[in-house]
Amino acid sequence: LKGYQLFPHLPRIRTDTPGFLLECAQRYGDWVHFDVGVTQAFFINHPDAVRQVLQENNRNYTKDTIQYRTLALITGQGLLTADGEPWLQHRRLIQPAFARSRLVSLDDVVMGVVDRMLVRWDAWAKQNQIVDVDHEMLEIALEVVGLALFGLDLSREAPQLVRAVLTALDYVIYRAQNLVVPPLSWPTPRNRAFKRALFELDQAVEAILTSHQVRDEGEETLLDLLVRAEQAGQLTRQHVRDELVTMIVAGHETVATALTWTWYLLAHHPEVESALITEIDTVLGGRPPGREDLPKLTFTAQVFAEALRLYPPAWLITRRARGADTISGYEIPAGALIIISPYVLHRHPAFWEDAEAFRPERFDERQARAYPRFAYIPFGGGPRLCIGNQFALVEAQLILSRVLQRYRLAIAGAGPVRAEPLVTLRPRGGMPMRLIPR
Ligand code: HEM
Repeated sequence: LKGYQLFPHLPRIRTDTPGFLLECAQRYGDWVHFDVGVTQAFFINHPDAVRQVLQENNRNYTKDTIQYRTLALITGQGLLTADGEPWLQHRRLIQPAFARSRLVSLDDVVMGVVDRMLVRWDAWAKQNQIVDVDHEMLEIALEVVGLALFGLDLSREAPQLVRAVLTALDYVIYRAQNLVVPPLSWPTPRNRAFKRALFELDQAVEAILTSHQVRDEGEETLLDLLVRAEQAGQLTRQHVRDELVTMIVAGHETVATALTWTWYLLAHHPEVESALITEIDTVLGGRPPGREDLPKLTFTAQVFAEALRLYPPAWLITRRARGADTISGYEIPAGALIIISPYVLHRHPAFWEDAEAFRPERFDERQARAYPRFAYIPFGGGPRLCIGNQFALVEAQLILSRVLQRYRLAIAGAGPVRAEPLVTLRPRGGMPMRLIPR
């Protein structure tokens, strides 16, 4: 497609990029070339091509794209946005904090956070009050990240940090949605608000780091690991700041959004919800879930996996080609932009039968082998696979099962909820729901 052919679609591209990309894939197939003057963009929608970019030839592809450059205004050179050797060094350093054994205490953290939320819900349920589940999920996911990774209750101990991150993210969304924006150096009200947010963010992080007491080995959080690395000269203060902010940005809205869509899908599929409740009651018999229960909560995991297929929070993954490459016979010039959309890939008719249908059974062991690994990439793939993927899966299983022991959630708004492609794929207008005590 040439630039002028895209012109009539600009409003749609702006407000409904995933829908536009899906339509492109349905019309033109697995390869779409956007030829927009200096920008040669290739939208690839086949697992083999995606595997080549994310895994086999990943060294040829960088994160030097508008998507990641804009995010880097907030996260700096943290894991999500860094590239090359510095990224590899930091990934090796941080990886141990996400090892399975280190996630053990995650269940205590999550149970504490969910139970505090349920106290709130009990009061609201009595008054038959409608709850914005989207807001609730954001709040608890943020609490979980703070407590599990930094040992901090962020909304209580660092409210200015949370506010600053959210304000800064608004600016990222604004830039993503507007092709032409004034350069950051211009003192427009929006630019000034963003810079103020960054300043407050840095101050809040600095305050945390200055007062932080490193815990003993064995009880360390990611924050302790980062501070130790700084003391050992492996990381600078700026690096520590960037990784801390990265974990907040990457680790809370993603999980929260995925959970919100899971509640939405369950409310629309009572038969799935019943099967899920049966599993939870059978495995747990009313006691709170712990790490050891997770392997038995298989249907819970499948439900979440299927929600991630239909509503992948990270709906867009972009890369820039360093050098020329040939992918499935197509020539990719050096400098080309590669667009991958988990949202579209997860609806590929060759791999997902009746793709729009919510069917958690797709992920039972037998059927899960039917699709290629790179046809399902809610967490990306290859060396840059999401570092928090186990963390997210454990957290989600625990939250879903704990909440469902007490409540079913019913849709309270009128009409379908639209997905809005912001930094993650968010429900437009939140997710108003009614709490139905079990
Ligand atoms: C990377 C999705 C939860 C931290 C990624 C990527 C995806 C993703 C798709 C790869 C992006 C790319 O290749 O361009 C998700 C989803 C989540 C989730 C859907 C929840 C359902 C988390 C959590 C954390 C986290 C809980 C941290 C606590 C990161 C980091 C990276 C990353 C640091 C960059 C890794 C690297 O490049 O080395 N995530 N994520 N994510 N995610 Fe997640």
